[in-house]
Amino acid sequence: MNTATSVPVACQQILPTRSINSLSEDVESGLLLEPRTMPPKYFYDERGSLLFDQICDAPEYYPTRTEAALLREIASEVIAAEKPECIVELGSGTSRKTRYLLDACTEQAWYPVYSPVDVCDEILVSSSESLQADYEWLDVRPLVGDYTAGLGNLPRHKGRNLVVFLGGTIGNFAESDARDFLAELRATMSPGDSLLIGADRVKQPDVLHAAYNDDAGITAAFNLNLLHVLNRELGADFDVESFEHYAHFNPLESRIEMHLISMCGQQVRLNALDQVIEFQEGDHILTEISRKFTRAQLERLLREAGFTIANHYESAGTKFSLVLAHPV
Ligand code: SAH
Ligand code: TRP
Repeated sequence: MNTATSVPVACQQILPTRSINSLSEDVESGLLLEPRTMPPKYFYDERGSLLFDQICDAPEYYPTRTEAALLREIASEVIAAEKPECIVELGSGTSRKTRYLLDACTEQAWYPVYSPVDVCDEILVSSSESLQADYEWLDVRPLVGDYTAGLGNLPRHKGRNLVVFLGGTIGNFAESDARDFLAELRATMSPGDSLLIGADRVKQPDVLHAAYNDDAGITAAFNLNLLHVLNRELGADFDVESFEHYAHFNPLESRIEMHLISMCGQQVRLNALDQVIEFQEGDHILTEISRKFTRAQLERLLREAGFTIANHYESAGTKFSLVLAHPV
């Protein structure tokens, strides 16, 4: 990778198409009432995004490696079949796996515009700059914003758009939210457009458990980062040390559930809200779910949202799926 020549890239804001809660409102409805829960997007300040990138390299966290290897295998076929004029990536993070698609474009002398969309400004800028330096043909147009705030302002290029949604992030939505989100995405798409979506598959609970409880504690640090974000953004006084990361697989819901557990009774002040949250010992915040799909569940989800399955690619051992889908 040649990142020696840094090309400055500016992010554009992607405007919401419906009003969504502010952080304060999410805290009011999520942390002041039980069960306590917060939307996962708040993990991803710059520190959180860098921690997530480290999770991707943790030996126990198989999804990134597995999806990367699969995407590398299929990238040429996808680009040749879809010939996108624009690649839009939702929740692009460091865009590291997307490079396989861009490599396939280079090989095929096919030069789409690339628009990564993410809530984290810093990670968008740094990854866009390094992509711009590494692919001299690339026109990268990063968009910062919240994809749960409506997709009506996603860039729509004349010609074919390929929407990419990797990392199993669709599994971080509850079932009905996932369907609504994909249906909303479908509504922005035209004939000739396509969706490439990655989803994690149901597998042995011990493998899942290890992936969300890495030995080095990176996932724990990532999960606890939410409290650092709240301390900074809301003038809160969470004693981060007194909370513990707890992630387990719930077989009834077929999902990992990630919690922060208060190890003692304590009160936390939220200055910006002029509120106090009371935790008993053992009280917890549900910070993230990560659903694990069967092949049939994943295809049904896409069909219900208005897509047809063009190709369902599975990694060896069916650990992970990449589905290429078209709007019906
Ligand atoms: N696609 C990458 C990163 C996955 S992590 C990969 O496969 O490794 C999820 C990414 O989605 C993060 O980069 C995070 O900042 C972004 N994200 C999370 N919630 C979001 C939201 N509501 N709107 C936009 N981006 C979001
Ligand atoms: N999309 C990722 C997943 O579900 C997000 C993720 C991985 C994550 N590890 C995490 C989210 C730890 C919170 C905490 O696998």
